[in-house]
Amino acid sequence: MNKDVQNSIMLIGGGVGNAVLLSIGKVCLRKKKKVLYFAGYRKLSDVFKQALIEDASSIVVWACEEGLIKTNRNQDKSFHGNIIDAMISYQRGTLGSTRINLDAINKIFVVGSDKMMNIINKARKTILRPYFRSDCIAISSVNSPMQCMMKGICAQCVQRNINTKTGEESYVYSCSNQDQNMELIDFDFLTERLKQNSLQEKLTAKWIKHIFENTRI
Ligand code: FES
Repeated sequence: MNKDVQNSIMLIGGGVGNAVLLSIGKVCLRKKKKVLYFAGYRKLSDVFKQALIEDASSIVVWACEEGLIKTNRNQDKSFHGNIIDAMISYQRGTLGSTRINLDAINKIFVVGSDKMMNIINKARKTILRPYFRSDCIAISSVNSPMQCMMKGICAQCVQRNINTKTGEESYVYSCSNQDQNMELIDFDFLTERLKQNSLQEKLTAKWIKHIFENTRI
């Protein structure tokens, strides 16, 4: 394996998921790795802590479905559209020349919503497939609902994995191992598990809105 491949990693963050990737990016930079960072957002107002993302990356590609995000460094790129199209445009050179090609990446870390990670996983096996090495490993941070955080007591965080080659299924307590091989994750299972919290989440959002609108804080 050539040195560029050993030394290049890719971070893909969706919305607030970007906050989780900062520490990974910084550690990789300290270890002299090149960090290609794709940060995706729905709205321009969703962008936060831009400088921290820059500090945790060699190159950032900002992708936003609402418009172009202003870049602060020469090496960074901005794309108006979704994060998958941003990757394709980046690799085809539509966003300008670059120092890190997707075919030099040997590890990808993805953090975002279950739907966003599912879309990335499917694209990795289809439209993005020509751009990545066949031995490139992708890791997802699985945002299972959690309760006790005691690694096997309540099983609220249980996540189904499927070996795509053998069809063998296994179950992981996400609170003990949140970073799972994307190849194995059953994302439909994750979406179903997350739905069990949706009623509480909606009620909490309404309660917080009520508090902010009706009290002096
Ligand atoms: S959250 Fe209870 S076992 Fe993981």
